Amino acid sequence: MPEREQFRAIKGTRDILPPDSSLWNWFEQAARETFESYNFRDIRTPIIEQTELFSRSIGIDTDIVIKEMYGFPKKLEILRRATTDQIGDLRNEANVLRFGQALAVLVANLTRALEQGDIPSTRENREAIRDLENLSKATVDRWNSGHRTPNPVWHGWFGDAAELIGGLQLERIEESQSLRPEGTAPICRAYIEHGMQTLPGDQKLYYIGPMFRRERPQKGRYRQFYQIGAEVLGPSDAPAIDAELLEMLLVFFRRVGLTRTTLYINSIGDKNCRPQYVARLREFLVKVKDHLKEDSQRRIETNPLRVLDSKIPEEQQIIENLPRISDHLCDDCRAHYAKLKDELRLRKIAFEENWRLVRGLDYYTRTTFEVTAEGLGSQNAVCGGGRYDGLVELLGGPPTKGIGFAIGSDRSILSIQESRNLPHLPGLSVYVAWMGAKAYPAAVAIARKLREAGLSVELPPEEMKFKKSLSLADKLRARYALILGEDEVASHTFTLKRLSDAEQKKLNENELLEYLESEKRGSRA
Ligand code: HAM
Repeated sequence: MPEREQFRAIKGTRDILPPDSSLWNWFEQAARETFESYNFRDIRTPIIEQTELFSRSIGIDTDIVIKEMYGFPKKLEILRRATTDQIGDLRNEANVLRFGQALAVLVANLTRALEQGDIPSTRENREAIRDLENLSKATVDRWNSGHRTPNPVWHGWFGDAAELIGGLQLERIEESQSLRPEGTAPICRAYIEHGMQTLPGDQKLYYIGPMFRRERPQKGRYRQFYQIGAEVLGPSDAPAIDAELLEMLLVFFRRVGLTRTTLYINSIGDKNCRPQYVARLREFLVKVKDHLKEDSQRRIETNPLRVLDSKIPEEQQIIENLPRISDHLCDDCRAHYAKLKDELRLRKIAFEENWRLVRGLDYYTRTTFEVTAEGLGSQNAVCGGGRYDGLVELLGGPPTKGIGFAIGSDRSILSIQESRNLPHLPGLSVYVAWMGAKAYPAAVAIARKLREAGLSVELPPEEMKFKKSLSLADKLRARYALILGEDEVASHTFTLKRLSDAEQKKLNENELLEYLESEKRGSRA
């Protein structure tokens, strides 16, 4: 029999298996606890959103929007393609009937979609569907009549069908959907949709979940990756909000042992001062255009700030000599940035300034920041964020200030693993080694009681010899084996064996529960 090809996780995606998944849970739980101590609350938004939400917020000349989004052709689009392909396969008179039937299926689906408002009800669409229906009937009738269909007629039909199908307008542009490449735009969308500006105080929200970008996979860069993000939305842009957010971020990093990190900050101005700076930058860039590569050349027109983000070695010297935003901030932005730095010093947060930190998304104003960590190679940014005052308005909401960050969980966990600074995570506590039909009911009962007491317990489903049972308990890295044979059942006791040093105790049920519970409290302390 030919060997079947094995399914594998698709490029840029991966499985997170135990025991790594425990490390992930621990990491996420630490974020929840830290963020909630700063009065942030969990928000869960869908993984798919309208494509336009992202193109409008992140910006149309960004890598994410141009190259990296995962969009969906809708079901009907797939059907259109499938029908066109099928018709392509049927170029043969013997297949007249199948051709007619394929068209009939398409027509039925299109008619339903039109009635339900799933596709635009334009005159062109209605006429095309009617013509396709006539074509389908004509071919089926022809087949049923038993007449031969001469080749030119057949080819004519095929051509007509392909043209009609190709001309259908199936999707409204505003209905195009994409997997989310990031979380900030969806949160602003939810903030507007639910009128969250009417709720008391600032909205302090956090989220944990997968994001999708079709990037070239490498160490620390995936197509499905995970972010832990936090956003503050509300009427105030006080620098203390920025500083407290950064404090929370670094408290979290310290808590999970991610300490060899550097925080870089910058201010990229606002709508009052940035346009003048961008114009000046453009003037300079035009002069050196011939020395820049294609992407940067294009960005001179579309988005000159993004040139500062270039990693191309030949461009670095040129960039170093460009005008800097710090020399062009308006008074308000300059004061905001100065106050932010004071607030960071007040909180004893070490930072470095980096005037080139403009970030890869267009929605930022004023504060931008990134945190890098060790042990990650080129993909060393474990967190990025900044202020996005005005984004909510851009998406149709009320005037709102905003700031936030997103931590890349994949990279952060990789860095923790590389530093070998791993937490001790509780595993299996008790392996119930039972033997003999009489011991089984007692084993089932005690396993349930220990589990109810919060312990992790493994109960073998089938009888095993003690030797085999204990060896499996060892391999599973259980802390204790609870030995339960006919002797123990007869004396209403249990033998508890600590597997690290083989120490054994004979205990009754109460003593056993008390001992394991106090031991659990001790290991947590
Ligand atoms: P970002 O800089 O695009 O910002 O992503 C934040 C973090 O997500 C990065 O620093 C990195 O750790 C991680 N990350 C990004 N792409 C990948 C990838 N392909 N594979 C693995 N990790 C990745 C944002 O997404 C903004 N929404 C952050 C923000 C929130 N700004 C304001 N609020």
